[in-house]
Amino acid sequence: MADLLASQILRRKSFRSFRDDPPDPQLMEELVDFLSDLTPPEPNIDWNFDTLPYLDMVKLCISEPGVKAPCYLLLRAERKRFSLQNCGYLGEMAVLWLTSRNVATCWQGSASITSENDFYGSLPFVTAVAIGYSDEDFRSDASEFDRLPAEKTTYNRVAEYKPILELGRLAPSAYNRQPCVFVTDDRKRIHLYRRQKLFANPVKEFEQCVDSGVALAHLELGARDAGYNPTIQRLYPAPKFKQSLAYQATVVLE
Ligand SMILES: Cc1cc2nc3c(=O)[nH]c(=O)nc-3n(C[C@H](O)[C@H](O)[C@H](O)COP(=O)(O)O)c2cc1C
Repeated sequence: MADLLASQILRRKSFRSFRDDPPDPQLMEELVDFLSDLTPPEPNIDWNFDTLPYLDMVKLCISEPGVKAPCYLLLRAERKRFSLQNCGYLGEMAVLWLTSRNVATCWQGSASITSENDFYGSLPFVTAVAIGYSDEDFRSDASEFDRLPAEKTTYNRVAEYKPILELGRLAPSAYNRQPCVFVTDDRKRIHLYRRQKLFANPVKEFEQCVDSGVALAHLELGARDAGYNPTIQRLYPAPKFKQSLAYQATVVLE
């Protein structure tokens, strides 16, 4: 499965136009099974998800979703350190799984659902992904990605781990801000950081924590595809690199 999903990274893109027909119900059931079997990077944080049709999504959201789609995946999690990162990881795994089934997706980080407006007793809403079929094409070539060059995002033993780091670099991020930086060491580890400003805007911070989970999903899949048996760990004390970078997690390759 990991190699199948890793290969979808090159095909995935954010779709902004969806047809009205809903995704196949059988496929949505398989998505539920796939997601339910995943273990996010921080396994002891309670999380769950819903799949909702457009009209139900509109009822829950403060304003209409930015992208109109027949279906949405909603990710919820208790508010704990790294719960946003978990949702980024889970959502991106779902996105790549759907891509492998030729279902179009678009992250909806701008969707906002307050606890008063959400289903009674739900865990706090974190983020959403629009899902459906589209007449647009999937990506066919890596040159179609609009990303920072590797020199600006990957450091140290870059050549050795290039295929894995490249999948990290191609990770989507809110507003394509690309906050993630990847640093390898001589112990077969890839440390993930995100750029952080001193007086950061809390909304941006929220989104970038989700982005870091998306990038972790790409690194993990890349590492499996390269033949490793990776684990995602949180090292204490955090490995230092540059002061402007906030440590997120480490992918230990072996
Ligand atoms: C966590 C996250 C939140 C996002 N939120 C939105 C959004 O609210 N609306 C939207 O149109 N695109 C959203 N995007 C999509 C990004 O704009 C997109 O990933 C980025 O521009 C790169 O383009 P690509 O996904 O086609 O590679 C989001 C992406 C991520 C990862």
